[in-house]
Amino acid sequence: MTQGDWQHDVLRELRQDAAAGEPPAHDQPGLSPSTAPAASTATPIEPRGDLPARSAGPFPQAGQGSQQPAVPAAHHPQLPIVTPESMRTIDPRLARAMGHPLQGDSMARRSGRSLRKLTASASQEVAEETRLARLVQQPVTTGRVIAVTSIRGGVGKTTTSALLARTFNHYRHDPVLALEADAALGTLPVRLGAESVRWTCRELAQILTPSMQLTDVTGYLVPVADGGWLLPASQGRVGAPLGTPTYRTVSLSLRRYFAVTVVDCETLPGEVARTAMDTAHARVVVAPMTAEGVGGTRVVLDWLARLPHSALATTVVALTANSPDMTLDLKAATAHLRETGVTVVALPYDRHLAQGGPIHTAQLGQATRRAATSLAAEAMERAVRVR
Ligand SMILES: Nc1ncnc2c1ncn2[C@@H]1O[C@H](COP(=O)(O)OP(=O)(O)O)[C@@H](O)[C@H]1O
Ligand SMILES: [Mg+2]
Repeated sequence: MTQGDWQHDVLRELRQDAAAGEPPAHDQPGLSPSTAPAASTATPIEPRGDLPARSAGPFPQAGQGSQQPAVPAAHHPQLPIVTPESMRTIDPRLARAMGHPLQGDSMARRSGRSLRKLTASASQEVAEETRLARLVQQPVTTGRVIAVTSIRGGVGKTTTSALLARTFNHYRHDPVLALEADAALGTLPVRLGAESVRWTCRELAQILTPSMQLTDVTGYLVPVADGGWLLPASQGRVGAPLGTPTYRTVSLSLRRYFAVTVVDCETLPGEVARTAMDTAHARVVVAPMTAEGVGGTRVVLDWLARLPHSALATTVVALTANSPDMTLDLKAATAHLRETGVTVVALPYDRHLAQGGPIHTAQLGQATRRAATSLAAEAMERAVRVR
């Protein structure tokens, strides 16, 4: 299928969604109801003439969009969309209270590791890392979407999404997007180190048109310091929740620009989370290392097994410990989840992650980095399998 045909399919789906009826996005505060058009009738935005053409490959190289303008390149003078104010992600007074980032590993563990570097197991570790890196780097012909969700809040969805987005950016040379689909005052911008946010899914749902180029689109996204892009769901205010049609519009339209999109979803069984899980190429279900967390996740896996398109075969469980006092036996928990046929990757407790705030890759514990790479490799393996 050509990219053009694919775009037509997307637009047809979007029109069906608009006809089916979420209140149009312009009914929300911040946009002028009298002037903002519905997504399906939006004035096409002219791509800027002086921007470089996209590369011949399926995805432009990551650096290509990095010369982004302060004002979005594609902003057309006639486009009746009000530019949102830039909002800080953390109040400066709280930012001062955060203190220095901790190292994920203790001093004892770090010095033990430097001694071990001299042994034979070090070369095995390097071989394993190379194997995982190859899986993460697999080429894709069309954009792959990996949705991250859980059955409860506060278990590590956003942390896992941020780790995945960082890992894909680290290993891949094509563009990667971190898409926040949790309007409940999500924390993905903070975790990815964004100091401020402006455009959100809601506006982008109206602005995106098939004629836009990557450089036009990235003008509306937040560049992440370690590489890649972020689209937040909200500006960190209590407001209208993200609707399913908005999610579909944004995720379907953006996937043609990004080799990998990692979606930080709301908690199941929210409608947006279910849509995201259903439409993604691969899924990551985050389960906390507690008896009720693992038990509840098993129920979700049984639900996924009943979905069409072999949803379970493209699902990975991230078993997270967000406290050092988790006592559940890892082997027993993993075995219980594996009975459904899914792969389980344990994401260990990490002091740097527990601290909250921006994630600095260099501060992460070694086991955390390894687990993040394994998780990205497992998710990518599954995402590329699906057409
Ligand atoms: N592997 C981990 N080690 C230590 N703390 C973690 C880990 N994963 C998550 N956390 C902590 O758990 C809390 C909730 O994580 P978060 O990713 O925001 O969850 P969710 O998005 O599911 O609500 C955060 O305070 C975070 O610091
Ligand atoms: Mg979250």
